[in-house]
Amino acid sequence: MNCTVAELRIMFSPGRVQLVQEEVFPGGPRVMVTGATGLLGRAVCREFQTSGWSVVGTGYRRARPRLLRCDLTDEDSVRGLLHEYQPDVIIHCAAERRPDVVERHTEAAVNLNVHATSTLAKEAAACGTLFIYISTDYVFDGRNPPYGEDDSPNPLNVYGRSKLEGERETFRHCSGAVVLRVPVLFGEVESVTESAVTSLWLKVESAESCTLDHCQQRFPTDARDVATVCRKLAERARQDPSIRGVFHFSGKEQMTKYEMAVSIAQAFNLPSNHLIPLTEQVAGSAPRPINSQLNCSRLELLNLSVEPRPFTIAISDCLWPFTPDKRWRQTVFH
Ligand SMILES: NC(=O)c1ccc[n+]([C@@H]2O[C@H](COP(=O)([O-])OP(=O)(O)OC[C@H]3O[C@@H](n4cnc5c(N)ncnc54)[C@H](OP(=O)(O)O)[C@@H]3O)[C@@H](O)[C@H]2O)c1
Repeated sequence: MNCTVAELRIMFSPGRVQLVQEEVFPGGPRVMVTGATGLLGRAVCREFQTSGWSVVGTGYRRARPRLLRCDLTDEDSVRGLLHEYQPDVIIHCAAERRPDVVERHTEAAVNLNVHATSTLAKEAAACGTLFIYISTDYVFDGRNPPYGEDDSPNPLNVYGRSKLEGERETFRHCSGAVVLRVPVLFGEVESVTESAVTSLWLKVESAESCTLDHCQQRFPTDARDVATVCRKLAERARQDPSIRGVFHFSGKEQMTKYEMAVSIAQAFNLPSNHLIPLTEQVAGSAPRPINSQLNCSRLELLNLSVEPRPFTIAISDCLWPFTPDKRWRQTVFH
């Protein structure tokens, strides 16, 4: 389904309700996933679907059949969507998450990251819907890691500030909400440039020498693991109202971008001597924390975490469709 909210209303009008419900809402608890066309949203939709939930995903520019098209910055559309669908849970993944884009197009980014979050949280509270907001390690300044859920945020860039503001709007309207902070993500991408981690493939496979950041410590995290954590949180929080507030989830391997690229090269038996570690911060881009490692013990103590696969295995899984020998591998294994 690829429709505006106005079209959605028509589809929910008498006579068409049954058809839409059969196609999209087959039964089971209902989850609405915003940003379902994005890297994390796709993984979240898949995770809930395979666990027997009834899933409705919303996208915007990339919305396509079986996804609802909704501009979340349009308050009336958001209200209409929630009123019609009445989900038990919302996983709010939609955001402008590219720090340099947020610096350049701040008003549009704040409209999505803050105001749309505010509207969704308000509507979720009014409908008694569990609201799970995806946030970022960039709410921290990176000077004193690791960071627990109660540590004071101090974002260095506009993106981090907008996500922190989104967290505050979430709790202002919806005191029973969950905020899940995660670091840089990779996963099953539609193109390698979709994630800061998979885009390293372009540098690895090119024979030309290039520099890669070797200052900022990162914890690359598999979106599929985040999706599982979201489902576990949703299922537990529906049973136990004490599951609310801020949670952290992160991959466990600490790596700079240079180290990630070398790992990728090793995983595919490619040379890495053209990759040059850069030990100075690059001027001109949005400031980023040097090490915003998240302490994830709250999730772990509640048995709501997942054990990430080793980075080289998980990233190989995501990148092999982009390797020149992919057709050979498809012939052999599929
Ligand atoms: N990716 C990371 O490395 C990372 C790291 C830390 C935290 N996070 C957080 O994780 C969440 C998911 O990130 P992601 O990487 O999956 O993002 P993404 O791939 O960039 O996807 C962004 C999503 O937002 C949707 N969107 C954009 N403008 C919209 C609008 N006006 N109305 C409705 N939807 C709109 C997009 O829909 P269309 O494409 O269809 O327009 C897309 O589905 C975000 O909250 C982000 O802050 C991400």
